[in-house]
Formats: sequence, C-alpha cells, structure tokens
Amino acid sequence: MVGASATTAPAAVPAAAGAQPAGPAAPVTARVAFTVNGARRELDLDLRTSLLDALREHLHLTGTKKGCDHGQCGACTIIVDGRRINACLTLAVMHQGSAITTIEGLGGPESLHPMQAAFVRHDGYQCGYCTPGQICSAVAVLDEIAAGIPSHATADLTAAPDLSEAEIRERMSGNLCRCGAYSNIVEAVTEVAGRRA
Ligand code: FES
Ligand code: FES
Repeated sequence: MVGASATTAPAAVPAAAGAQPAGPAAPVTARVAFTVNGARRELDLDLRTSLLDALREHLHLTGTKKGCDHGQCGACTIIVDGRRINACLTLAVMHQGSAITTIEGLGGPESLHPMQAAFVRHDGYQCGYCTPGQICSAVAVLDEIAAGIPSHATADLTAAPDLSEAEIRERMSGNLCRCGAYSNIVEAVTEVAGRRA
C-alpha cells in the first residue's frame, strides 16, 4: 500500500496544480441544404439547432413564432414536405433536402393566401402571435381532410372525414391562442373549406 501511494501521489499533485478549467468543446456543425418557400438555402449549423431557430435566427424568417419551444403551443407550426410539424421539436439537420413552407411562403400583403384572407375577414386573431402557426396548421388540416386522414373526432374510420366544426376544432387543437380567437378561427377555416360558418 505504501509503495502504491508513493508512485501515484507525485503524478496527481502536478496535474491538479496545473489544471485549467476545460473550455466548452467547439460545437459540431454540419452543412444542411433544404428548400424554404421555394428557394434553396444552405446553412452551416450546430447540430443542436432546431429547425425553428434555423428559420428565425439564421434565415431571419421571423413570421414563424416561438411560443413555448417545447411542442406545446403550436406557434411554430410550419409545413414540411406537405405535412405540418412543430418546428421547435425537430433539428434542422434532420431535414436535408426537405421542402419547407413558412407563413412567408403562403402569401404576403399583396397576395394573401385564401386562408390568410379568411383570417382577416373573420377577425381570426387579436394580438396575432399565434396566427402564423394557426394559418399554416389550417392549410395543412384541409389537406389532411382531403387526403382522408382521420382524426380523433372521426367517427367512421372507413369513410372520408367530413368538414364539420368538430373535425376542425379537434385538428386545430394543437394550436393555442392566448387571446381566445378560436370561434373566429373556426369560421375562417370553415369558409376556406367551402362551407359557410
Ligand atoms: S414554440 Fe413550438 S410548439 Fe410552442
Ligand atoms: S391572437 Fe393572440 S395568441 Fe392568438
């Protein structure tokens, strides 16, 4: 035991005395390329960068909002390869080659998307913070219904889902609105779906 201490102690002392606090490791980055609103974009990103942060912080597309950053509010909803997703819950590097549509890609002030125009007509927003996610979600909801994808509110899984208010409310339930503009949002979505509210 004595011999063992004599051989290990000298090595331990200089190491402790000369130790520098280890700095943070350099981030691991990768080049990712995808199409955003019809334009090819390439970014060198920290592997940990969420798709939401890539859009907002790197591409400065701030229409997509960060509410909770935890998949709970739907403010960050965008459309990727035709399906709506929460951009805060996915890493940018997972979307190599994807086609991404944000609210900026749906339409602008001079050429509103029909869903944007319906939100305006029906007062579907108040503060507007949730609105980009609501609109992206609503556009994808109508595509989901048209594609026959059932929801929790679909009673008959063998029939095409209808465009009922219950279907729309259920499918939009992942998009929270602090202002409580839900009734007007449902009216807007219903109008675009081809039915009168
Ligand atoms: S910011 Fe993504 S769900 Fe809330
Ligand atoms: S309009 Fe304010 S959070 Fe929805």
